[in-house]
Amino acid sequence: MADNRPIGIFDSGIGGLTVLREIIAAVPNESTIYFGDDGRSPYGTKSHDTIINYSLQDMKFLKEQDVKMIVIACNTASTHAYKTLSSMCDVPVVEVVVPGAKAAVEATRNGRIGIIATRATIGSGVYEAAVREYGKDIEGLEVISQACPLFVSLAEEGWWDNEVAYLTACQYLEPLKAAGVDTVVLACTHYPLLARTISKVMGPQVKLINSGVAVASVVKNILESNGIASDGRNVIRKFYTSDDPKLFERVAAPFLGRGLPSGTKRVQVDKYDT
Ligand code: DGL
Repeated sequence: MADNRPIGIFDSGIGGLTVLREIIAAVPNESTIYFGDDGRSPYGTKSHDTIINYSLQDMKFLKEQDVKMIVIACNTASTHAYKTLSSMCDVPVVEVVVPGAKAAVEATRNGRIGIIATRATIGSGVYEAAVREYGKDIEGLEVISQACPLFVSLAEEGWWDNEVAYLTACQYLEPLKAAGVDTVVLACTHYPLLARTISKVMGPQVKLINSGVAVASVVKNILESNGIASDGRNVIRKFYTSDDPKLFERVAAPFLGRGLPSGTKRVQVDKYDT
């Protein structure tokens, strides 16, 4: 029997819309509820405990909407809170690290992989450990991790492909270039928006891994293997934010296209107990 409950997706803010976009492309028949915690964003500069508490509240809000699956569309929340969330949730929880790490290991030819992300993601070491685990058979595997915190502000400002973005990328990506990586994981939801600039700096031969694509295919597989796919009737797209809905929609529009998001509602997420 079809399960027409929505999929719940959350992020610290708007960046997770790059993951939502891929989910909509991969499983267009599924309803989705997106929550962006813009009022408390960014997570990438917060402590481990705070990221867990915020993520738990995000999950509780989505659970209250009767979702059939939770997607943590945020690398920072995935690296710090996935274990806690999945141990406390009675529906499948999907995170973004393992799909991205596997895609990078499959893509590399020279065994040198760069990971770029927020400070909290890089500091957790979780992404690097995942790449090392899935790439353990690659001889001489090298993983170069680099925090690029300013990329988040550039993405939100819409400065994806200008001189400031280029010079910032030159500075951050220097260690990856020096190491000769042939694959770079965009391990932050905002970074796909800067892909063009990152490619200009790294060179066209370097592959950029957008984990959103890999995550969407994990979502599809779980829907099929757990027998919880929708029959495509009454598909809904709902959006919630913990900040001003108008502000959310204005900044979010370029992430999604197709006239979305619309009808965004504000939610007071800190009322949920952790
Ligand atoms: N969504 C976050 C991530 O993917 C980036 C923005 C933030 O720091 O909250 O890591």
